[in-house]
Amino acid sequence: MSQSAADAAFSKGLEGIIAGETSVCSIEQGGLFYRGYEIHDLAQNATFDEVAFLLLEGHKPSASELARFKGEIRAERPIPASVTQFLKDAGPALKAGTAVPMDVLRTGVSMLGHLDADCQSVSADANMRKAKRLLAKIPTIIGQMQNVIDGRPIVAQETGGDPSLDHAANLMYLMSGQKPSPDYARVVDVSLILYAEHDFNASTFTARVIAGTLSDMHGAVCGAIAALKGPLHGGANEAAMEMLKEIMHDVGEAGIGTDKVDSWMQRAFDTKRKLMGFGHRVYKNGDHRAPILHKLGRAIAQNDTKNPGGHPALQWFKLGEQVQKIMLEKKNIHPNVDFPCGLTYYTMGIPVPQYTPIFVASRITGWCAHVLEQHANNRLIRPLSKYVGEPTRSWNG
Ligand code: CMC
Repeated sequence: MSQSAADAAFSKGLEGIIAGETSVCSIEQGGLFYRGYEIHDLAQNATFDEVAFLLLEGHKPSASELARFKGEIRAERPIPASVTQFLKDAGPALKAGTAVPMDVLRTGVSMLGHLDADCQSVSADANMRKAKRLLAKIPTIIGQMQNVIDGRPIVAQETGGDPSLDHAANLMYLMSGQKPSPDYARVVDVSLILYAEHDFNASTFTARVIAGTLSDMHGAVCGAIAALKGPLHGGANEAAMEMLKEIMHDVGEAGIGTDKVDSWMQRAFDTKRKLMGFGHRVYKNGDHRAPILHKLGRAIAQNDTKNPGGHPALQWFKLGEQVQKIMLEKKNIHPNVDFPCGLTYYTMGIPVPQYTPIFVASRITGWCAHVLEQHANNRLIRPLSKYVGEPTRSWNG
């Protein structure tokens, strides 16, 4: 049945609108579920590699299915020499700050599309092969990009990592050349589980809109990366940490726990500043993922002797907790997953501009699962708009 704009429902930002069906994920005030498995259950009992299989292939893997999947991913980790060369060429712009890692990652993924024999096919088989290649190669792009920024030789260029390491640990290794401790690897692995999927969030919806025109998976993922970059979406993990650094700079370590932080926050409220890492379009009583990551990150900070940004790791969490408390008391707004993520990655010494690319290394699974689902049962996504411009008028007056 066709519908005109005059009699259609309108909701700014599509808030509260059901824009499609999915069997990948469900979000409710009471829980977040990937294909029926609750997020606390997954964070506690699964690994990211298992969750990636679950999202892409649709069910919990058996031991042999998981071994096969991991082997497929490991084999696809190396990236073409031309992409490595592009990353090297992007070094000056990255160092100058005219390019940021999310932009460079987006271009790297676009290049992978040109070089992928399956690029133009939207068949289920081709889509699954491309999804696995993207999952495997995105950490390699991120790692090599960070090597270029740090001025070190490319880590494991031939293999795209260490075959003994799973997705999260290998990503850390590729970025730094150091194999992470089991504790660090597990915390990053859990963060990737938490980031993997979130139904019709802005970047996934972008991917589905692109896929809905029967365009290709690499194009859909490039669009999704651009959407995720924004600070109202995935870019909030970097923005949250930059905000905490700003508060720390302004109040000093001695100001933590004092009313100096309250005054800083009051100024932010008075100027109607949006505090990054807080609030959510769907969760109004708190993001289920945030406390899971906060607890793990705090444990890392508690045992850490490093001095991130010149302050003991735990001080950042104490500052973050005070900010959270004030937000809740004054605004009744809860932190979202990006807030503890910023704190946790900072404590672990991960460079801030790579936080959102790391999010991509996880969410690629959710995006690809949705592209597969969209192509399997496609209908062009084409809403209406409410016209608020000039009334009808004549060109000749
Ligand atoms: N700081 C200050 N005030 C806020 C915030 C915030 N972070 N979030 C919401 N509010 C206020 C907002 O100003 C509004 O107040 P008022 O009614 O007086 O105008 C009220 O709360 C309702 O907010 P809203 O903007 O209508 O909520 P929304 O559903 O449109 O926005 C959001 C959701 C995530 C865009 C928003 O909360 C925000 O901008 N947060 C900061 C960015 C952020 O952390 N994004 C990550 C989102 S979750 C994970 C992810 O996608 O990566």
